[in-house]
Formats: sequence, structure tokens, C-alpha cells
Amino acid sequence: MSAEFEKNLFTEMSIQPPVEFQDSKDEYKKLMMAYYAAMREVQTKFEILNDELNLRHSRNPIEFIKVRIKKSQSILDKLSRYGLDKTLDNLKQINDIAGVRIVCTYVDDIYEIANMFVRQDDVTLVQIKDYIKKPKPNGYRSLHLTIEIPVYFSDSKRKLRVEVQIRTIAMDFWASLEHDMKYKKDLDILPALKEELKQCAEVIADTDIRMQKIKNRLDEGNQAPIEKSENSL
Ligand code: GTP
Ligand code: MG
Repeated sequence: MSAEFEKNLFTEMSIQPPVEFQDSKDEYKKLMMAYYAAMREVQTKFEILNDELNLRHSRNPIEFIKVRIKKSQSILDKLSRYGLDKTLDNLKQINDIAGVRIVCTYVDDIYEIANMFVRQDDVTLVQIKDYIKKPKPNGYRSLHLTIEIPVYFSDSKRKLRVEVQIRTIAMDFWASLEHDMKYKKDLDILPALKEELKQCAEVIADTDIRMQKIKNRLDEGNQAPIEKSENSL
């Protein structure tokens, strides 16, 4: 077996319990290991759907997938924000300890792949937030699913929550830059620039729709120009 396969991915992650959880550090580590497992289960499900759709349509609806386990400091911050004590039990209130981001090519791919995923027997849909149909006031767009998935261990089965964000590459481009501007620098963005940023999101959303329409035309073998009125948001 190559060295690459001998690596233990979990110990490499080195999720160290914060001091607030020192009394229950083994339990904390076990819980994070479980979230890490749930995250990979979800990632694999999407990779399988992408492979199958590739066989069927000779194209990949998923451009790339990113996964992350929330950093312990962010977990502590969120518990404080929710006004919850720092207990293991309260960690269940946080839906996004395990996060999976799916970046699709076209807008229709988002809904197609989301439906295929939530229809699976072992996936329980807990909450859906459609920030594409109803964008956030700042212009943010993505489809957010909170789901529960069972993970099997040596002598137990555990259902864990995973937050899945599904968006197009165009939406991801905007969200990445906006996140970068908002979080890296501790800036208060003035209304005029906020408006500018929102307008960028709208141009991007409009372009997403136009690209989808062009693709649909080409798929149908119809190369008639797209009328302006067909491009409304
Ligand atoms: P959080 O406390 O931030 O998790 O918000 P929430 O629990 O109300 O969930 P929501 O669905 O609004 O957002 C969850 C996640 O979506 C965030 O952690 C970000 O990854 C992403 N997100 C939400 N809003 C924005 C935004 O305005 N800009 C960017 N760049 N990302 C966002
Ligand atoms: Mg979050």
C-alpha cells in the first residue's frame, strides 16, 4: 500500500477541543470525527451523482466540491451568538459544523442535483433556504440545505446534520469576493459600495440565466437569437 493510503485522515485533521471542552475532550473529538464522517458521506453522494450524470449526458454538472469542518473558535462564537452554554449537547443546535459546498455549472444543475440528493432514502431534509429564488438583501445567492444523514460506527449508528450549499460558479465567484471583502478586513461597507456590490450580484445572476438559455437553445438544436424579454430575472 502506498504511503498516501496509509495516512489516517482523521488524526491529520487534528481537531483539538477548545479549553471550554477540556472536561469532555474525548467526547468532543468523537463528535468531530462523526461530523467528519458525515461530511465525507455527503461529498461521496454528490461525486457519485456527478459521475452518473457524466455517463448519461457526457458533461459534469458539478465543477467542484469543497468541504470543511467548522473551526472550534467559530463553534464557540456561534454558541455565544445563540446564547447557549458551551456543552456537548448544545453543539447539536449548530447545523453547519459539517459543511459541503457544491459548485455547479448552470442554474438548472443546482435544482436537478439537489432533488436527486434529497430523494435518497438515508437523507433527511431538515431545512431548505432558497437564496436563489429569494436572494439575501446584499445580493447573495445559493441554495442551502440542512440535512441529516446516518453514519455507521463499530457498534452504533448516529444521525448527523450537514449544511449543503449549492451554487453556480458565477454565484461562487461573487460570494468568494464578497466574503473576502467582508471578513478579511474589518470594514464597515458604506451604503453606496454595498449597492454597487449588490448590482454586481444582479449582473452575475442575469448572466447565469442567459448562459442557461443559450445552453438550452444549443441542446434543442435551436440557434435562434434570444429575445431580451426572455432574459428577465
Ligand atoms: P450563519 O450564522 O452565518 O451560519 O447564518 P445562518 O445560520 O442564518 O445560515 P445562512 O443560511 O444564512 O448562511 C450560512 C452560510 O452561508 C454562511 O456561513 C456563509 O457560508 C454563507 N452565506 C450566507 N450569507 C452570505 C453572504 O451574504 N455572503 C457570503 N459570502 N456568504 C454567505
Ligand atoms: Mg453557517
